[in-house]
Amino acid sequence: MTKLTEEYFLELDKNDELARFRDEFYIPEDTIYLDGNSLGAMPLKAMQRAQKIVEDEWGKNLIKSWNTAGWFELPYKLGDKIASLIGANGGEVVVTDSTGINIFKVISAALSIRPERSVIVMEGSNFPTDNYMAQGLVELLGHKHEIRFAEIDTLIDAIDQDVAVICLSMFIIRPVIFLI
Ligand SMILES: Cc1ncc(COP(=O)(O)O)c(C=O)c1O
Repeated sequence: MTKLTEEYFLELDKNDELARFRDEFYIPEDTIYLDGNSLGAMPLKAMQRAQKIVEDEWGKNLIKSWNTAGWFELPYKLGDKIASLIGANGGEVVVTDSTGINIFKVISAALSIRPERSVIVMEGSNFPTDNYMAQGLVELLGHKHEIRFAEIDTLIDAIDQDVAVICLSMFIIRPVIFLI
């Protein structure tokens, strides 16, 4: 059986073809940072890019940068880059706002296109702010809607003719919203 010794892991690191990417990130001294799904370690290029944006695009060119630095097109440009990672086509993905704000907007839109349906199905084990966002929306709309909490194994039973929208945390962390 393999012994999980320091030498064993150093050997794995030596043969790891991804190891070279470590140098592309800023990692504070004496830190082992394992959070990659939320706020990942800062790429050195991000620091350089942020400095350039602040100094040149914002600092020197001010409002002109919406046009000259392409700020207007950024949601689409970033969306196209993400599209290739998630199997979508160019022009199908747009990057906007934060996850919570986007959920609010999509669920609101879903409810408005199916006004005859009043149920929002949420996964009870969703990222908590996703559910708080839906609860806030129900309150904002005057308690005319109901949130039905379900988990993957009870999802089918939760879907009926009254359901306007289903919000699931698929692929482990990112919310996926079905308009029905
Ligand atoms: C599924 C999910 N919902 C909501 C959030 C909160 O994101 P934001 O602060 O961008 O609204 C996160 C953050 O990681 C998330 O993973």
